[in-house]
Amino acid sequence: MSEHLPVTQTPTLLPAQAKGIFYGVGVGPGDPELLTLKAHRLIAQADVIAFLENADGHSQAAEIAAASMSASIALRLAIYMPMNRDRALANAAYDDAAQRISEQLRAGRNVVFLCEGDPLFFGSFAYLMARLAEEFHCEVVPGISSINAAAARSKTPLAMLAESFAVLSGRHAPDELRAALGRHDTVVILKAGQARPQILAALSEAGRQADARYLEFVGRPNERIVEDVRQLEAVQGPYFSLFLVSRSGARA
Ligand SMILES: C[S@@+](CC[C@H](N)C(=O)[O-])C[C@H]1O[C@@H](n2cnc3c(N)ncnc32)[C@H](O)[C@@H]1O
Repeated sequence: MSEHLPVTQTPTLLPAQAKGIFYGVGVGPGDPELLTLKAHRLIAQADVIAFLENADGHSQAAEIAAASMSASIALRLAIYMPMNRDRALANAAYDDAAQRISEQLRAGRNVVFLCEGDPLFFGSFAYLMARLAEEFHCEVVPGISSINAAAARSKTPLAMLAESFAVLSGRHAPDELRAALGRHDTVVILKAGQARPQILAALSEAGRQADARYLEFVGRPNERIVEDVRQLEAVQGPYFSLFLVSRSGARA
């Protein structure tokens, strides 16, 4: 009896290349020890690590995650994001990034996109997920946000009992800031860098200076905490800065 297998005339189809998974991974606000175990594992195992960087080639997220990255990552995909309020420029950068990421995912590589803080809390990952989720499987790993880290570093309760809590941005108009400061027990103001002088004025006008704290680069070696905002210079500051205003954290 022949040992040979019969020659089949049926053309064999090659298995379709499985697409990679697109992960949005929160790396926390600054201290590498605030990465979750899951974030650490995914970063260490990633084929491709993607992150935003500024014009100086600096990425806060990549710096925070540096110790978790393996030396054998296939590709580090740095995405330049202009620090500009022009949404057309940002959208063009996200379109380009989505294109570069999708090439990797189609080649079957998993892509881990590093997000400072939490990926879905004012996170750039949301813009990429909106562009990629139709074609690719996306997963999100939450991270500790700058708000939680700021509360912990300044030992300020964020909210207790029936207190109300609002998050604003320094990009809100001064009257919106004043209204929120008047209405809510706790107000966190993110993106406080350029708007610092206006925010300080709004805190004074709303009578909330005594329960406000200012924090920049929380968890980084250059962290700065100003407990009494009356001591804070009324000039523009770094992008990674915020105000935490809390009635239950008011100083005596
Ligand atoms: C685009 S939002 C990103 C928020 C981030 N996804 C999070 O969960 O905290 C950027 C703003 O978050 C705040 N921020 C983020 N990290 C910070 C840090 N380490 N120290 C102080 N503020 C920070 C700043 O107000 C900054 O302008």
